[in-house]
Amino acid sequence: MLLRAILAAKKPTLTGRLGGILEGLDVGVEGCASVDEIWSQVARESTDLIFASRELLEGNPADLVRSIRGLPEAPDVVILTDQENPSEQARFLATGCLAVLHTGLSEDALRGVCEAILARRRGGLAARLGSVFPPEQPKLSDFVSLSPAMQSFMAVAGRVAASNTTLLILGETGVGKEWLARAIHQEGLRSTGRFLPVNCAALTESLLESELFGHEEGAFTGASRARRGCFELAHRGTLFLDEIGEMPTHLQGRLLRVLQDRTVRRVGGEKSRPVDVRVIAATNCDIRKKVAEKAFREDLYYRLSVVSLAMPPLRGRREDIPELIDNYVNYFRNQFPHCAAGIAPNALEAMLAYEWPGNVRELINVIERAMLVSPHDLIQGNDLPEEIRICGPSEAESDRQPNLPAPLELPQQWLARPLPEILASVERAYLAIVLETAAGRVGKAAELAGIDPRVLYDKMRRCGLRKEDFQKNAAQDEGGNHQPVPAHPSNSRP
Ligand SMILES: Nc1ncnc2c1ncn2[C@@H]1O[C@H](COP(=O)(O)OP(=O)(O)O)[C@@H](O)[C@H]1O
Ligand SMILES: [Mg+2]
Repeated sequence: MLLRAILAAKKPTLTGRLGGILEGLDVGVEGCASVDEIWSQVARESTDLIFASRELLEGNPADLVRSIRGLPEAPDVVILTDQENPSEQARFLATGCLAVLHTGLSEDALRGVCEAILARRRGGLAARLGSVFPPEQPKLSDFVSLSPAMQSFMAVAGRVAASNTTLLILGETGVGKEWLARAIHQEGLRSTGRFLPVNCAALTESLLESELFGHEEGAFTGASRARRGCFELAHRGTLFLDEIGEMPTHLQGRLLRVLQDRTVRRVGGEKSRPVDVRVIAATNCDIRKKVAEKAFREDLYYRLSVVSLAMPPLRGRREDIPELIDNYVNYFRNQFPHCAAGIAPNALEAMLAYEWPGNVRELINVIERAMLVSPHDLIQGNDLPEEIRICGPSEAESDRQPNLPAPLELPQQWLARPLPEILASVERAYLAIVLETAAGRVGKAAELAGIDPRVLYDKMRRCGLRKEDFQKNAAQDEGGNHQPVPAHPSNSRP
């Protein structure tokens, strides 16, 4: 599909560079030098993408982005900037920008991000979301990777997938290490073989040993039968050694031997069996520090890290957050259909600003929980856990919507109650004020409320309001001689 993009920037070097990349990717590019020109362009012809430099958008860029997103084709907006400003970036993404592109990126990185942006616009994403997400057997293309950090990471991952080398994947918990290992297995030459994950931190030393290498009959008490280990089971496939940093040193030596000799000897056995296994190891600890402290064998470290891939944490690739949210909202909607269908800007802004120590896994859990607890059509800031919510805009800020009258301050607890109940309580409060103003005279109160006195009587009965309760205040105020009446909440107001 031939796409049409507007490239709005003042610097000719930038327009030349980016324009060249986009044209090479089958995009018709129109240049603009001001916001007014952008508007006259979009009025003239349908537009798929708008790349606008940050300095061109003076005034209120957020409003501009929202208005553009409100156009019939909802053009995608990409902000170009030469500054690293994470909080501004979060705000742009929260208003609906697809990405914030750093113009200092290398040619290759810039092209990579443009390709991802165009693929998304061309509907690659929609096609993928048609099937179940996240897939159990992921491909590298299933990784959300709009951000420059992920783009360059995935480019390297793609290159090593096809080879047979041992890999060491580094990264914080929840960044997607195991998912990546699965995808590499899936895309490589071994996809017909098994992918076998083993968590090196989850088993005691002796159990881990027999799990990995197998044991012969009678090798230890309780070993009544011989058993194959993971190396034999993963023959011609991939063995994923998670949390390799926690492997006891004695087993590190055995592992190194298997990697070097390509043969495995079971616990209590004599015979060496040839195995053809690709090992992908992963860790979230600082393994070089462990090597320095002699807690991890240096020779094994070098053997494993022929290629080491450091996955960027989620806070280092915030551009991916909106798409990750979309994907997982859709995923959970398939599971619980009556849940929220998306995310409100205030909640998105909070999620963009949050640090995500638990990375993608934490994000998935937060979305699942928010979808279960949210009574709204869109996940709101207050459906999110406290630590995330406080990263978002203040309530007063987030209540404002463009082109809408500022809403009344609604008590937060109302949001959890159905509209008829809220209307009934508002009606009761309103009638109490009118009755008080009219000093309990129903005719006068009906006039103030613009309704028939009989209708007012009827409503008062349903709301449990009695005119006598409002006559005492009037008696005091006016110095009149009405009888005393029972106390009522509205009487106690100053
Ligand atoms: N780039 C990504 N796009 C979509 N989902 C992802 C991505 N990275 C990770 N995930 C999801 O995050 C979850 C955690 O990943 P996992 O591989 O278990 O993390 P780790 O092994 O690093 O702790 C998985 O359910 C995976 O589907
Ligand atoms: Mg893991």
